[in-house]
Amino acid sequence: MIIFNQESKSFHLKTKNTSYVFGFAYDKFLVHLYWGKALNVDKIVYEDFIDFSCARRNMCANDYLDIPVSRDILPMEFSTFGNTDLRTPGFHAQYKDGSRITELEYVSHKIYAGKKPINGLPSTYVENDSEADTLELLLRDNLTGLEITLIYSVFEELDAITRRVSVYNGGKDSTVLKSVLSALIDFNSKEYDFIHLPGAWARERHVKRVPLFDGKQIVDSARGSSSFNHNPFFALAEKNTTENSGSVYGFNLVYSGNFTAGVEVDTYDTSRAFIGINPFDFAYVLNSGETFDSPEAVLVYSDNGLGGMSRIYHKLYRTRLCRGKFRDIERPVLINNWEATYMKFDEEKILSIAKKASEIGVELLVLDDGWFGARNTDKCGLGDWFVNKEKLPSGLDGLAKKINEMGMKFGLWFEPEMVSPDSDCYRANPDWCIHVKNRNRSEGRHQLVLDLSRKDVCDYIIKSVGDILSNANIEYVKWDYNRIMTNVGSALLKPENQGEFYHRYMLGLYYVLETLVSRFPNVLFESCSSGGARFDPGMLYYMPQTWCSDDTDAIERCFIQHGTSMCYPYSSMGAHVSAVPNHQVGRTTKINTRGVVAMAGQFGFELDLNKLSEEDLATAAELIKTYKKYGEVFHKGEHYRLSNPYVNNYMANEFVSEDKNTVIVTIVGIKATPSDAVRHVKLDGLCADAVYKNADGKEFTGDFLMKVGLNTVISGDYLTKMIVFEKQ
Ligand code: DGJ
Repeated sequence: MIIFNQESKSFHLKTKNTSYVFGFAYDKFLVHLYWGKALNVDKIVYEDFIDFSCARRNMCANDYLDIPVSRDILPMEFSTFGNTDLRTPGFHAQYKDGSRITELEYVSHKIYAGKKPINGLPSTYVENDSEADTLELLLRDNLTGLEITLIYSVFEELDAITRRVSVYNGGKDSTVLKSVLSALIDFNSKEYDFIHLPGAWARERHVKRVPLFDGKQIVDSARGSSSFNHNPFFALAEKNTTENSGSVYGFNLVYSGNFTAGVEVDTYDTSRAFIGINPFDFAYVLNSGETFDSPEAVLVYSDNGLGGMSRIYHKLYRTRLCRGKFRDIERPVLINNWEATYMKFDEEKILSIAKKASEIGVELLVLDDGWFGARNTDKCGLGDWFVNKEKLPSGLDGLAKKINEMGMKFGLWFEPEMVSPDSDCYRANPDWCIHVKNRNRSEGRHQLVLDLSRKDVCDYIIKSVGDILSNANIEYVKWDYNRIMTNVGSALLKPENQGEFYHRYMLGLYYVLETLVSRFPNVLFESCSSGGARFDPGMLYYMPQTWCSDDTDAIERCFIQHGTSMCYPYSSMGAHVSAVPNHQVGRTTKINTRGVVAMAGQFGFELDLNKLSEEDLATAAELIKTYKKYGEVFHKGEHYRLSNPYVNNYMANEFVSEDKNTVIVTIVGIKATPSDAVRHVKLDGLCADAVYKNADGKEFTGDFLMKVGLNTVISGDYLTKMIVFEKQ
């Protein structure tokens, strides 16, 4: 619900459990008043929210003689560069005359039921207009004619608010946009912890929690993609906030490119939180009559701790960000040949893996890298999207048929955004890659990135991938992206437009993805980027799952999936059982441990099943049966993190089914210790009065399980337990 108060010129955005309030102080300054637990106020009185005397500090400049406060101290709802507020601006532009000043004034606003899509960009959506209300607040710089619309959507039931900014050049001259952030909010305290998800290849999204410090604390990407170095997510948690209690504010950007996300703590101990496209190396020329849309920021407040925040993101993303046929249906258990064969395979080998897989209940075989062009090593072939007949003499169509005859679906790997210098594609089109004339074209994994700011390159990708998908029964695509952008420039953009490159690349990528996923609605797409280097909500809009990490070690995965779950649902995480000793870390764990860790995500295998012992093969078959029975609980149920693996010796998760009848607890010891303490995990989200029965027939009340908890011993070889309770 969105309430506009005419008298105070304020807006009250209400979800089921939260309130978000802002308005025009002194009829001029758009100030942020409140964000937190639902508020019952009839009348918004600014003085009740802001101590204006604070904003009359010495040494601050005042914008107007008759308004005795400085914007440098007011809590702002959005801030443009060029006035008395000198903190990080939400908007910064350079006009034709060289001026960088933007002064916005209220023009109008409208409130309507529903939520509109963003032109060319991914975003959360509604299926019915009653699910969200939207506010569009139009502001104008009267000197230049530039118009900025702040757009808020309120998902009442889902408890989330989205924000974005749309910029229209209503002047006669072009303007260079230097920074257009999606959301900016001032908090009147600095007593928060900054929680974020840094990482690296095979170590994605580890949770870091640090106190805010004076100055700017920022995570960002200038690598062309959201990256595994940082994720476009952060949370501000009050000091006493824990996993299940206390206030926390989440910020996440629905974007897969360069971003900035951070907090500026100023001289007066207030904090400005912001998120949006990274202004670094960004300069977008907006011509007269043109519009620029920022990506969407998703804001979540919870007073139920980090877990409460995560569950809001999970439900929103699972039901109103992911799209298409596969959003709600059970997805197939897959086997991927990458760690089984790498690029050294032929049809016979693939069929032998498929046969074994079909015998234990696997439903989809995914043929990974190496099936096309002259691709026998990673030094060549990307861009040549035609089948390698030496390896696959019956072609993709023939192979797909043989796999289908075994009762399985067939899926294929692509890396469409890349080109190998040693490829026919590159030899024919050397200017199709990202590059700058007369400059080095530095390679990553011996490959270059195609220039998706070019329509012709995007159309080449659509045609190459589309032709292959049309000519064989391919029901799954793994869309990989294995390097960062360097030496950035485009052969087609004019010199003055080169600063638009990174964003235009993303618009190109989203155009390609939108075209392909709508043309092939029956194909399940999984995103990947050297593992999870592009695990962001932007990609989830097109592909409902992302390969979480190249690190398939069960214990490392406990940490990676734990961090990923801060913001993203388990239903979006690709997770596989691989061989031991593990190829990335050399550790050996039991197949049951690997299975229990993987089956919370989108479950699969990534090893040569022919090499498993009879016993392990039988366990693999059992794991699949268990997954088929409980997959829906993992993916559609509510998730509770019962243990912090950074603190404890074990990882524990709880999943409560949508109907609350089934409860699954998984516990994995994360250190191989011969003797360890008894562990207690207290369950959450149960009906206190109900009785829950486990597989041994033991019964407990919900109250008991939530207060006393489960006692279990974790010791030995990464001991793993999966306990299922059914409500009686
Ligand atoms: C990186 C991916 O994360 C792997 O799973 C695999 O597909 C390789 N690329 C193939 O080159």
